Amino acid sequence: MQIAVLKERRPGESRVAATPDTAKKLLALGCQIVVESGAGAAASISDADYTAAGATIAPDATAACASADVVFKIAKPLDEEIGYLKKGSILIAHLAALSSKDTAQALARQGVTAFAMELMPRISRAQAMDILSSQSNLSGYKAVIDAAATFGRAMPMMMTAAGTIAPARVLVFGAGVAGLQAIATAKRMGAVVYATDVRYAAKEQVESLGGKFIVVDEEKMKAAETSGGYAKEMDEEFKRKQAEAVRAEVLKSDIVITTALIPGRPAPKLVTADMVANMKAGSVIVDLAAEAGGNVEGTQLDQVVTTANGVTIMGHANLPSRLARDSSMLFSKNILNFVTLMIEKGTGALKINWDDDLVKGTLVTKDGEVVLPALKG
Ligand code: NAI
Repeated sequence: MQIAVLKERRPGESRVAATPDTAKKLLALGCQIVVESGAGAAASISDADYTAAGATIAPDATAACASADVVFKIAKPLDEEIGYLKKGSILIAHLAALSSKDTAQALARQGVTAFAMELMPRISRAQAMDILSSQSNLSGYKAVIDAAATFGRAMPMMMTAAGTIAPARVLVFGAGVAGLQAIATAKRMGAVVYATDVRYAAKEQVESLGGKFIVVDEEKMKAAETSGGYAKEMDEEFKRKQAEAVRAEVLKSDIVITTALIPGRPAPKLVTADMVANMKAGSVIVDLAAEAGGNVEGTQLDQVVTTANGVTIMGHANLPSRLARDSSMLFSKNILNFVTLMIEKGTGALKINWDDDLVKGTLVTKDGEVVLPALKG
């Protein structure tokens, strides 16, 4: 079978959905790989790197897709990109399917079978295909690096002949994949780290990284986790108690990183405008939930704003794209591991087991229809 790798066209998207390494592995499985010219350029991968791995370069997206059975992409396709996909082909990408019904319908009309990588079930067998984890981990790291670069002071404690520098105080909201990496990164840089989450299970994970966990209401936190490991939306009383519990900590913090998300819901507002207005001048907030509406009052998507009292709020979308080489490498491996399930050993032919939970869980369109249950009706 033939696999096409397209160049990403969304503004600010620097990643690519295959690397020379994954291309080589797919070739070894008997596939042919066609890469659109320039697809890897923003991730520092040249056409020559792909050619050296055995892939073919196509001059444009139409040529890349012309004979492709499967198309790899990072981001949800634009209308123009859907037009490149031929009827009967398969698209594998981060489709943001649950919030993109129009895109799913357009893909169905185009006769494309689409798989949404972000819907990969979070079971052990699928860990190596989990793009949410591989990309969030890098987001958590980059959030701390961005904050440290903007913060006008040092992160670690330093005892010098000229005086002692106190360590930076970092507070992380949400101790999921991104939050735990942010905690680990800030600790490695020498900061004193506090964290909070609604899931009580996060306490042990935060403490194992050397962070201090802020408990709001132990009983409610023990019931706050869904069977899938995600957070539930909390009631008003909990939200009020949480705001009280974290307020003092926010005001003492030099850096606040927010990562709190609730699947299918807007991000909870956790840092109020009043808290921001009372933070110290020079403090930095990085809001990783900006694309879901933000955890912080005052975040502006894809902007860095400085408040009247001198607090910088960073609302960058798509942090993984700003570490494009590594994020592409991990995303490509996730896709490789998934597509390998669909390749017949020996022949390299496409062979899909439609009863596989990973196939069923990620399938969005098939045979001209939107089949994802959450988007039907
Ligand atoms: P996420 O990106 O959906 O949310 C980030 C964090 O925000 C979560 O820890 C969540 O509990 C927290 N949060 C939500 N509302 C909050 C609030 N009001 N205040 C403070 N924190 C709030 O979560 P992510 O990173 O995708 O991880 C979710 C769960 O999935 C975790 O339990 C994680 O360990 C688990 N997981 C399991 C995997 C597997 O088994 N393959 C892979 C990756 C994660």
